[in-house]
Amino acid sequence: MSNLKEKLIKALPVEVVDTLKLCSQAAEEFGVRIYLVGGVVRDLLLGRDIFDVDITVEGDAVDFANYLANGGFGVRLLQVQNDLRTAKLSFGDKLEIDFASTRIESYPVKGHLPVVDSIGVSISDDVKRRDFTVNALVLSLNHSDFGELLDYVGGVDDLQNSLLRVLHEGSFVDDPSRIIRGLKFSARLEFSLEPETLRLQDEYLSRLSDFDISYSRLKSEIIQTFSLNIPKAFELFIQQKLYRFFVSDFELEINSSLLKRLIDCYKPQNIWLVYLGCFLVVGDCKFDLKKSEKKILQDLKMLFIKKPPFDNFSVYKFYENTSLESILIYYAMTKNKSALHYLDDLRDVKLFVSGEDLIAAGFKPSCEFKKILDLLLEEKLSGALLTKEDEIKFLKFQIKQLKK
Ligand code: CTP
Repeated sequence: MSNLKEKLIKALPVEVVDTLKLCSQAAEEFGVRIYLVGGVVRDLLLGRDIFDVDITVEGDAVDFANYLANGGFGVRLLQVQNDLRTAKLSFGDKLEIDFASTRIESYPVKGHLPVVDSIGVSISDDVKRRDFTVNALVLSLNHSDFGELLDYVGGVDDLQNSLLRVLHEGSFVDDPSRIIRGLKFSARLEFSLEPETLRLQDEYLSRLSDFDISYSRLKSEIIQTFSLNIPKAFELFIQQKLYRFFVSDFELEINSSLLKRLIDCYKPQNIWLVYLGCFLVVGDCKFDLKKSEKKILQDLKMLFIKKPPFDNFSVYKFYENTSLESILIYYAMTKNKSALHYLDDLRDVKLFVSGEDLIAAGFKPSCEFKKILDLLLEEKLSGALLTKEDEIKFLKFQIKQLKK
């Protein structure tokens, strides 16, 4: 196996490297072995930026965290989770590191959160609970072999071949969110599913109704994946029929690059929902949505029910109060130019005056208010450059007409 010590030192800020060395020394004294596992090792080997370093303790992470916190190392214990035996420590002002105990997990209810069967197992057993071989690589932080790469599952070969391979046949049944994680890594790392993993995924998707699924876990992975705004993720979602989590069939042609361009240009808040929304016009969103997310889907369905607009005023009214995300999806699906006309030219047209100005002009509140204000809006949308004074004049004129 190769030693990645130099690579690790180059990839991490000096204070993180110093902290890892401090932990290494403390682990030696305390008599446990500690490791980096998962995404951080994968990203180190790929030469990608590393943002987060978690330490896995082959033993009880809480005991080790207490030793660090009480050992005069200038370390503070921030948080402990007793059931999972995890702890968070702060080193100095800025650096916080999570410590996890090695563990074996099982899925008594397939498709839902795992339960911990055993804590403090060997590191080679710990990696068996993970999603893909490339996420099960281990890097030793121990004094005797600091930086040594440990590969118990063939992750290095898969990494070299840009392949995502599950560790066992039941991986997707245990945790279907791994299907979306596979999509995320395919898009972000430009990896692909190795043939047997793809077969297991196909088999799972073709028998979806046989399985129980935690849609909240799925949602979190979908948000992460589509928020990357990588068209490839959308293409694979269709190609690999991952939409089956929501709809049984999908035959529309939607240009993924167009979706990306629309997102880059109009910057909606819920990028992920612009992608996923394309499948939810007809399908069911099976996970809980926030109020604002629900509105996007309701707006989208409304746009498809209403008659498409033709002049500026009807375009304005058609899209007014409609969420940006739903307008973008509607455009991507229908290419109805009115959507971009609204966003580019009309949505910022606002009246200076309001109902209060009508009252000030001597008009009693009535249902005519809206009519008059709409007449004024129509005038403005046709391109008239009106100042507030012009608008008030317009209101007074309309009131006179009404009184005649
Ligand atoms: N993991 C898993 N199954 C999941 C989620 C996570 O096996 N459903 C394991 C993987 O070994 C993963 C590690 O837990 O590497 C950490 O998870 P996470 O932080 O979500 O993923 P990373 O691989 O670190 O990827 P990212 O770069 O997106 O943070």
